Amino acid sequence: MPLVTSKDMFKKAYDGGYAIGAFNVNNMEIVQGITEAAKELQAPLILQVSKGARAYANPIYLRKLVEAAIEDTGLPICLHLDHGDTFETCKDCIDTGFTSVMIDGSHHPFEENIAVTKKVVEYAHDHGVVVEAELGRLAGVEDEVKVSAEDSSYTRPDEVEEFVSRTGVDSLAIAIGTSHGAFKFKGEPKLRFDILEEVSKRLPGFPIVLHGASSVIPEFVEMINKYGGDMPGAQGVPEEMLRQAARSAVCKINIDSDLRLAMTGTIRKYFAENPSHFDPRQYLKPARSAIKEMVKHKIEVVLGCAGKA
Ligand code: G3H
Ligand code: 13P
Ligand code: ZN
Repeated sequence: MPLVTSKDMFKKAYDGGYAIGAFNVNNMEIVQGITEAAKELQAPLILQVSKGARAYANPIYLRKLVEAAIEDTGLPICLHLDHGDTFETCKDCIDTGFTSVMIDGSHHPFEENIAVTKKVVEYAHDHGVVVEAELGRLAGVEDEVKVSAEDSSYTRPDEVEEFVSRTGVDSLAIAIGTSHGAFKFKGEPKLRFDILEEVSKRLPGFPIVLHGASSVIPEFVEMINKYGGDMPGAQGVPEEMLRQAARSAVCKINIDSDLRLAMTGTIRKYFAENPSHFDPRQYLKPARSAIKEMVKHKIEVVLGCAGKA
């Protein structure tokens, strides 16, 4: 089974009322935890690599790990560039075997976003690669860029048809109130489902992407706080809201923070209980298992994509 694009995955997800999990990968244990979960539940999978992950791991290692996961699991896996910031970064990923790229022009004015997205789409489609773009701006932290709540903006439904038809993009990330990182809401969580509904009415059959969609699982935040961490006010998107999104036009749900929390919480606990251990395999093994169990829960309860591979 070679790497696949997300085209068929999204069509089936749209028609079937479920979503595909797009998990960020940065090292071997994360890749293994996610792919073992997907294999056990026979779930389709998107593994995504950010600019920060590329800088941390060197892209070739991540690509080879994903190739190994495909050989090991036999699953259809899509390898996606998360938040590509320039045409050049997208081109580099396309040239080196990614099957999907995101060009994130959401910080540009509308016409500039269209221009850069269109350029990436033309190159990507010539090479059999699909493209995700973004309209509207999420709050939160990605790489070195921090977008404050005041600088964030909801997607404007009246712009989406023009954007999609002029760019030829394959999927669209929209801003409906989620944000990147572990501190998503001050007070009651609230998502603008009315915007999602309006967007999907204007783009029938078209796959929508939800970024910033970690639930910031309380069990792991409590674990971090219990074992020396300090994350007061951490809060994510409630699972029922994500399930509601997955039943609608949202076909791709991005999850990174929950992986980080599962790994960090488990390692903190491990060291608190085993202060003299220093073999990385000893603490990375339970961290990998925690990721696996967490991803299985997402697949079954949040995404609804078990058995859809
Ligand atoms: O959207 C951002 C993802 O969580 C990736 O984060 O850029 O720190 O790797 P990163
Ligand atoms: P979280 O920070 O909610 O996990 O979002 C990840 C994301 O959107 C990656 O692009
Ligand atoms: Zn994102």
